[in-house]
Amino acid sequence: MNKKFAAMAVAGAALCMAAIPVSAEEGNLVIGFAQVGHESDWRTASTKSCQDVFSAENGYDLQFVDCDNDPQVQIEAVRGFIEQDVDYIIIDPIQATGWDQVLTECEDAGIPVIVIDRTIDDSDKYVSWVGSNFKTEGLAAGEWLKAYAEAKGITEINALVIEGSTGASATLGRTEGFKEIADANGWTILDSQNGDFTQVGGQEVMESYCKSYEGQFNVVVCQNDNEAFGAMDAMKAAGVTYGVNGDVILISFDACTAGLEFVKSGDINADFECNPLAAPFVEEVIKQLEAGEEPAKEVYMEEHWFVNEDILASITVEGAEQPLTVVTDEIIEAQY
Ligand code: AHR
Repeated sequence: MNKKFAAMAVAGAALCMAAIPVSAEEGNLVIGFAQVGHESDWRTASTKSCQDVFSAENGYDLQFVDCDNDPQVQIEAVRGFIEQDVDYIIIDPIQATGWDQVLTECEDAGIPVIVIDRTIDDSDKYVSWVGSNFKTEGLAAGEWLKAYAEAKGITEINALVIEGSTGASATLGRTEGFKEIADANGWTILDSQNGDFTQVGGQEVMESYCKSYEGQFNVVVCQNDNEAFGAMDAMKAAGVTYGVNGDVILISFDACTAGLEFVKSGDINADFECNPLAAPFVEEVIKQLEAGEEPAKEVYMEEHWFVNEDILASITVEGAEQPLTVVTDEIIEAQY
């Protein structure tokens, strides 16, 4: 174990400087970032956030690897960062499991790991995690649907779910949260298939749903905006109407700019935000480590729930009342 990580492990002790790789400008901290891929608008915003914060002007040398949604490529990217002896490693884990071995290697090399967005569920060998509570997002979608259906006099829910990538904590949490509310209210989830968080994936799954469940569904839940864009194309082609003036209630997650534009136009009824701007919080964690302080193990991002219609002011999620925000041009303008 090198001096830097050993000092960190002894809670709060002062840190020593790690070796600076040859490629780094003198004095810059070298950050290795193993990103999931480039599957969605959300991912683009996440990558940009990291590139903006960990720029050369800000005193960093960012080593960025796009892992193209391949868990093995991501593990090897982390091993590559160990080889380079970077100062810090940021991981947005494609899958929630399969991490303990490589995180042990990071620990042995004395390189602190910061996890962002998705969680690692089978190892705690990282310094901090910064991200979203995906189960809360799924619960919020369910609670909103319950209140909305009541307000509109809809008594029966037959839902189709387009899930995100298999094994991703974002998929697991949103699926679990929505299902909990569905089960508690006796709703039918007709099907739940993987759309891989992509527009193409959403479109393909929805095309097949439109054939298999023709005339049987009145709710579609897409686990991100890009899947919703694909699902809308598929429903349009199949002659299925959706959104505030349609036969099918369309729910999405992420609430990136393009998603909110579709909420404003009424094509998506409700969009549950997943905040991609983790990088400033990660920088704060790094600053704390550099100062010999012990950062929080978990940092939750602030998130909002967006709707088209002004008929419900709030919903209650896990016992806490949370506001619903009607999308305006100003909100879209300010979004990522
Ligand atoms: O992990 C966050 C999820 O991954 C976002 O909801 C999705 O758009 C992305 O691909």
